[in-house]
Formats: sequence, structure tokens, C-alpha cells
Amino acid sequence: MVKMETAELDTDLSLFKYDNLEQLPPRYRELGEDERTERIDAALEELGDDVVILGHNYQRREIVEHADFIGDSYQLSKEAAEADAEYVIFGGVTFMAESADIITDDDQSVILPSMEASCPMAGMAEALQVDSAWAEITAAAPDADIIPITYMNSYADLKAFCASQGGLVCTSSNAHKAFEYAFDEGDKVLFLPDKHLGENTAHRLDMEDEIAEWDPWDPEGKDADEVAESDIILWDGYCQVHERFREEHIAEIRADNPDANVIVHPECRREVVEAADKAGSTATICETVANAAPGDTWAIGTEIHLTNHLQRWHPDVNVVPLCGDACMDCNAMRQIDPNYLTWVLEELAAGREHNVIEVAPEEKELAGVALDRMLEI
Ligand code: 13P
Ligand code: SF4
Repeated sequence: MVKMETAELDTDLSLFKYDNLEQLPPRYRELGEDERTERIDAALEELGDDVVILGHNYQRREIVEHADFIGDSYQLSKEAAEADAEYVIFGGVTFMAESADIITDDDQSVILPSMEASCPMAGMAEALQVDSAWAEITAAAPDADIIPITYMNSYADLKAFCASQGGLVCTSSNAHKAFEYAFDEGDKVLFLPDKHLGENTAHRLDMEDEIAEWDPWDPEGKDADEVAESDIILWDGYCQVHERFREEHIAEIRADNPDANVIVHPECRREVVEAADKAGSTATICETVANAAPGDTWAIGTEIHLTNHLQRWHPDVNVVPLCGDACMDCNAMRQIDPNYLTWVLEELAAGREHNVIEVAPEEKELAGVALDRMLEI
């Protein structure tokens, strides 16, 4: 096998990069909801236009209720790009706050209230690990132009790596467009880290027979011949919240209520997406329920906080969690506790910044190229 040069990344494991992030001071740990809401509102009043709060659809109710804008990953990155507040408070996970820092101007600061909101799937494709896999993958198909695409759910150094190899970022709402861009620019796609979104996108483009999987943890899971023969190479990562949904859950819902509709996130397994009526990003899920007729039933295959929000926001629609009590919340998203929000806002009002996410300058520029390519497709 021909040995390729690696990009010699100067990087640590992403999770441990932000050692400036602080724990919640004990005096904020026991706040009741009424007191907290009053204090958040007072801090926001004082901060005025200096602050904007962006909240992902999976955030807790108390965060979503204070957000200036709620949306999916793509919408939040657009909002961050357009925000002109000095402080962007991000109700989401580390990779989203990193992307916001990359997209916003240098005189704006992005604050991630809790230090522990890190998406486990993003950690399944560390740039260091991808860099060495890249040497093996490119050596397996030496004559092919391979374009790496990373899902938004990845750290900034992996986004920078993708840009350095002619690739880009995508979210669940534009993965098909990113694949089309990549096939215009090259011959093969390496998609990271979510194999289910990758497989669902390949199906959407009628390329399901072109898939090879790359399991970086299993020596048997890396087949150079398969890579040489396939147009789409999928990194073996997944989201544990979405892997939980099974075809049987859809069959049970339909057996109980033949009129029920099912919508799932494309991070779900292929067979689940196939069995559902519709699949789409969290924004598509929100829109679908918002447009449902009163009395319709929609079973939702995604993170449980969003399902609960949809039940509250649309009481005339029968919104049910696809796998009942077994539906999970996202452990990373849940870390953004409203007590943390109170703390960072009160401290900002007092002139003190905490938990600022600052992507290293050497990664920022290239990762920005990968994000800009996505925003332009
Ligand atoms: P969306 O881009 O659909 O909001 O998804 C983000 C995510 O993390 C899903 O698990
Ligand atoms: Fe990551 Fe899954 Fe949580 Fe989305 S739901 S942030 S992919 S762990």
C-alpha cells in the first residue's frame, strides 16, 4: 500500500481543549424557577442588545423560553452569522458554539453556559484519528479525488481538516447538497462521523449501492478493496439517542393507530427512515407538526425535549414520542442548565465573561472555509 503524507495536525483531543470553562458556582445550584426567571429577565434587561440567546430545538424548556431564536443547527449557524450582539449565548453543544465563534466577527464573543455540553458523536471522529485514517483511505484509491464532508456535529479541527482537503461541512438539512457539491469537485466522498445520515443521504441520491463503511476501531472494518470500489465511504459513528429507534416502534404505533404519521430525524437507522412517512432536520420536524391539521397524530423519532416542546406548542395535534418512555434526552444538550444561564448572564451584566468558546486561530480560518462552503451551497 502506498503511504500518504498526513497533514501533521497540531491538535489535542477536542474535548479537552477548553480548559477555561468553569463549573457553576455553588450559590447558583439551588435556584427555584420563579427566582431564576426573574433574575434572568433582570440581567437581560440590563444587557439589552449586547446579548442574543440562540437555542437549539433540543434544549430544555427553560432555555428555549429565554431564547431569541430557536432552530436547527443550520438555522442557528445562519443566525450566528447575522447576529450583531457583542455576546452570543449558545444554548447547544460545543461544536455548535465553536461554529458560531468561527462565523461571528472577532469583536463578538460566544458563550457556552455549561462546560460539559459535548456531543458524543462529535467525539467519534477526532481530527487526529481522521488524519491517520485519511492516509490509509487515500492510499487505497490513489487515483481518486476523495472529498471529505463532515457533519456539523464535529469539532473545529476536523472541519479545518476537511477544508484543507477540498471538503466542507453539512447539516442534516443540506447533506444531499454537500454530496452533490463533492461529486462535482471529486470522485468519492468520505463522510464523517454519522454513518446513518451518510447512508440516508446516499439513498436520497440513489447511490445506496456505492457505500463502503470505515470502522476506525476495528482492523477488520477497514477494507481497502471496498474503498477502491465504492464512491461513498462512511465513518462508523452514530448518535446513541437516534440509534435507539427501531422499525418495531413504527409498526407498534401503526398497529395502535393506522392513521398515525411518523417523522424521524435522518440520524436514525436506514430501516427506520425507510419505514417512516417523513424524515428531516429538527426544523423540518417542527414545521411538519406546525402544519398538521387539528386532531392529526404525529409520532416523533428524535430527542425527547423537542417532542415535549411540540406537544406544548401544538396542543391540538396529537404528538407522541415514537418509542414511548424509552425515548431519550440528549445527555450533552441537557448540560445547559438554566442555573448556568442565570450565572453567565448576571456575570456579563456585572462586566465579567465566563465560558467563552474561542477556536484556535490556526483552525478558525480553515474551519471557516468549510462552513462558508456549506452556507454557499
Ligand atoms: P439538526 O441540525 O437537525 O438540528 O440536528 C442536530 C443534532 O444534533 C441532531 O442530533
Ligand atoms: Fe449529538 Fe445525538 Fe445529542 Fe445530537 S442528539 S447533539 S447527535 S448526541
